Order: sequence, then C-alpha cells, then structure tokens
Amino acid sequence: MKKKIIKAEVEVFENEDELSRNNRELLAAAKDAASRAYAPYSKFQVGAALLLENGEIILGSNQENAAYPVTICAERTAIFAAATQFPDIPILKIAITIISPEANINRPVPPCGSCRQVIYETELRYSKNIEIFMQGDHGIIYKVKSIKDLLPLLFDASFL
Ligand code: THU
Repeated sequence: MKKKIIKAEVEVFENEDELSRNNRELLAAAKDAASRAYAPYSKFQVGAALLLENGEIILGSNQENAAYPVTICAERTAIFAAATQFPDIPILKIAITIISPEANINRPVPPCGSCRQVIYETELRYSKNIEIFMQGDHGIIYKVKSIKDLLPLLFDASFL
C-alpha cells in the first residue's frame, strides 16, 4: 500500500481591503446578486458574480422552490446564464458570497459539491482555470486558482 497526499493551495485575505480593486468589485457584485436571491425557505441568500474574458460580469443567486430539491444554487444560476448569453467566452473568475443576517457567517462559504462539478466542467469546456473567491456575510476571503484545489480526484469525461 502506498499513500498519496493531495495538496490544495488557498490564499487567505483578511477582508475586502486586501483584494485588488477589480476583485473587490467582483465580490461586491456577488453581494448585490445575493440581495436578489429567492430564498424564502432557507433564508440563506447566496450570490455569485462571474467575470468573463470579454469583461462582462454575470450574476446569479439561489432560486428556491417549495419542492426543495428543485432549488438551483447561485453558482449554477450564474454559470448557466453566462453559457447561454456568451457560449464562446471563457469564465475567468467567480466570486461567491452570502447574506444571512440570522446566521451572520464570518467564514468563507464554499460552493457545494454539485456546483464544484459544474465549475470543473466549465474549466474543461474553455480550457481555462477559473479563480474562485469565497466570503461569508463578512470577514476573511479565500481564493483558489482553480476548482481543482477544492475538488480532488475529479470525475470527468475522460472516464466515459
Ligand atoms: N446554495 C447555493 O446557492 N450555493 C451553494 O454552493 C450552497 C447552497 C443555496 C441553496 C439553498 O437555496 C441555500 O443555499 C441553502 O442550502
């Protein structure tokens, strides 16, 4: 038996002030997206903002449903909107944040497993890594250079 160690690199920023202006604006756009979430059941409003290679910013927010599993996360709402409006333009960055006044989360909120899989598919589709910025209601920000840092031992089309 051998052991394999899988490493992930995460950059940690104390707060928005440590980000570049462009990245700070992308995170602010994600916060704006979170304010437009439809989350009457969880009250957990998530926002995602994508930066495309052509400079466009595409927003997404979680859209819940009384039939709970039908809900779509903010990240996938944004990615599918971008893929529909600009199918040939790579996505360079995604910022994810929340508005959850009751929980008042001060640690970064990472994408769920399903969204990680979709972000990976998107990286492969455009042959481009996607930088991911994550924050809670406030506080420290995590950045990874690619979804590969959040999703080891990935499944992709090479197995099909
Ligand atoms: N949610 C997202 O929008 N993105 C994630 O990556 C995790 C979860 C949403 C789905 C649901 O509306 C609420 O957060 C609580 O799970």
